[in-house]
Amino acid sequence: MKILVVGGGGREHAIIKKIKENKSVEQVFALPGNGGIAKDATCVAISATDIPAIVNFATQNKIDYAIVAPDDPLVLGAVDALEEKGIPCFGPNANAAIIEGSKVFSKNLMKKYNIPTAEYEVFDNMEKALEYLETAPIPTVVKADGLALGKGVIIAQTRNEAKAAVVSIMKDKMFGKSGDHIVIEEFLTGPEVSVLSFTDGKTVVPMISSMDHKRAGDNDTGLNTGGMGTVAPNPYYTEDIAKQCMETIFIPTMNAMNSEGRSFKGCLYFGLMLTPNGPKVIEYNCRFGDPETQVVLPLLESDLLTVMQAVTNGELSKTEVKFSNKNACCVIMASKGYPASYEKGFEMTIPESINNSVYVAGATLKDEKLLTNGGRVLGATAVANTLEQAIDEAYKLVGQISFDNAYYRKDIGAKALKAVKN
Ligand code: AMP
Ligand code: GLY
Repeated sequence: MKILVVGGGGREHAIIKKIKENKSVEQVFALPGNGGIAKDATCVAISATDIPAIVNFATQNKIDYAIVAPDDPLVLGAVDALEEKGIPCFGPNANAAIIEGSKVFSKNLMKKYNIPTAEYEVFDNMEKALEYLETAPIPTVVKADGLALGKGVIIAQTRNEAKAAVVSIMKDKMFGKSGDHIVIEEFLTGPEVSVLSFTDGKTVVPMISSMDHKRAGDNDTGLNTGGMGTVAPNPYYTEDIAKQCMETIFIPTMNAMNSEGRSFKGCLYFGLMLTPNGPKVIEYNCRFGDPETQVVLPLLESDLLTVMQAVTNGELSKTEVKFSNKNACCVIMASKGYPASYEKGFEMTIPESINNSVYVAGATLKDEKLLTNGGRVLGATAVANTLEQAIDEAYKLVGQISFDNAYYRKDIGAKALKAVKN
């Protein structure tokens, strides 16, 4: 089979490595991929959002199956466009990807179908939003409606901070048109859990839970990033909580999307907060999380391509999705300065012997040398019998990789380990 993967980050590298375990896979193309992915797939310089070019490439190269991984092409309708040409795809149609593409949509969906989430108000008028903030409970959370590279959420500790956030989103348009509508919501507390799931619109199968580390600095300080590391499973996510989430969140969300005529097939990501009043949804994503995928897929024992095809064919209920009972830890190595400004173009050294444990996110090949080319540069993942061992081994991998201006958090998994030991 010829497989096409749209995207070019660590998540896509993890998907590609896993897909290749299937013996029927002859060739994998990554659009655009990156210098590190080039070891495992044929990278083609087509942007992940250039849908006409993607469709053109897929038809000309007789692609048998396409996996659209990032949010933007999904929201823009890449799956719809490929399906129109008869190419089977993994990923939701645009009318379902809106669950991530619009926070106003997802909040209204949860309210309509009684799915637990933070209390909220929606505004399309800045004056009204500022007036509401005069009396709103503080701290509060201000969110731009549309996709904003994971940065469209501002947690305001004071009324003035909240007002400044509203002005920069709605007036100064710091996230462009994403800020035409905003959500102002209740500040929730509790451990966060990421649960990725496979769903074909009829069955929802949660994958092993994980814990992201979103802040740039140790002890959850500094700016929000796309994610600086992950562990799986997440020790806060007990069997009881999993059962409760299945009943109050996962199945109701799948059914709600069906009732709205927006059946979701693909990977539906539940960003949850385990509050004192039970698990609540912080956000939905219409795709695999990054870097959650870099710990979840290494623990998947079933064949990924088979499961994905079952999702596409509506046969997920007949397909086994099995995870190992080991632990995984992924440490992201970034360019110093990320998520603000950083330099790139530094040569990377990754020993051949650990290649299987490394997912490259931001690198380019020049004269056969791998050079850094992004904020998040790579993820190093270790799988072990205990969480403690997985963390230890992930940092040993990091110790073997070098490039100038490398930065990584030193405490990935520390909070989870504390929870395990308590
Ligand atoms: P999001 O992009 O929606 O995942 O938000 C980014 C991060 O902001 C989340 O991972 C949470 O840590 C935090 N966050 C978002 N919404 C809330 C909320 N209502 N209460 C507390 N923290 C939140
Ligand atoms: N790691 C969070 C995300 O993929 O949105």
